Amino acid sequence: MTRMLLWIAFGLAIQAAPGGAFAQETDVQIDEGNRLAAILRAGRTVVSSNQDLINDPGIGDKGLSGDAFLEQVTAAYVAANGVEPLGPDLTAEERQLTQAQLDAMAEIVDENQQLINTPDLGFKGFIPAVFARLVNERFGEKVGDIARVKVTAPPDLVRNRKARPDPWEASVISEKFLSPEWTGGQAWSEQVTQDGRAVFRMLIPEYYSASCLTCHGEPKGEVDVTGFPKEGGHEGDLGGAISITLYE
Ligand code: HEC
Repeated sequence: MTRMLLWIAFGLAIQAAPGGAFAQETDVQIDEGNRLAAILRAGRTVVSSNQDLINDPGIGDKGLSGDAFLEQVTAAYVAANGVEPLGPDLTAEERQLTQAQLDAMAEIVDENQQLINTPDLGFKGFIPAVFARLVNERFGEKVGDIARVKVTAPPDLVRNRKARPDPWEASVISEKFLSPEWTGGQAWSEQVTQDGRAVFRMLIPEYYSASCLTCHGEPKGEVDVTGFPKEGGHEGDLGGAISITLYE
């Protein structure tokens, strides 16, 4: 009997060992998820800081080519993170994913030159959320067997049906991010099995700031400049989440 208990204890000890390795691997994946989100944010920031220029009806050629855009993304990333997006310390996979994100951004900006440079047109609908969706889709075409990035939102806030949360995202949003006990800004990540595959999933909450409310704020139901009814959101409310999937 004692021997049997020992064997059980031994068995547990053996099982615990890979658990440790697993935890380390998770740290690497969390870093990777945060990197993917940080690059996406840098891209959105650049669309945002050029929004007045993009929507200026008095200027035709805005000089905002894919290359010019990437220079600004690099600067925005350095300003926010203190290091270059393609610094020397990246692993081969990190480099591949970051390069794919940056390439996707340059392509989307290049493909939208005609829209961006349309003379005599004010608001063009080339806003951070649309840019992010197009970039994430292009990123998926490039490296979707390794990683996916998506921006989603609580179901009642979703504007574009492509952004609708899947069951995992919906449950993290409702059970964690919208729970009164949740620490604001805290991300959630876990290993899950999806279609028989082990995948790492991470969801990073995003909150409305004052600048979001011209479109997502009050009065609820009033149509915003993009043609969507406003959500009636307030500063600090959960507005959405960046969803990262890493395939093993
Ligand atoms: C100029 C109006 C405008 C502003 C300002 C704006 N948004 Fe949006 N937002 C939109 C539109 C339009 C979409 C749908 C984009 C698409 O077609 O994918 C959207 C989509 C989103 C989504 C993706 C989910 C969905 O509903 O499709 C999130 C999350 C989001 N916005 C959050 C924010 C946050 C946070 C801010 C402020 C930092 C912000 N938005 C500022 C107009 C705006």
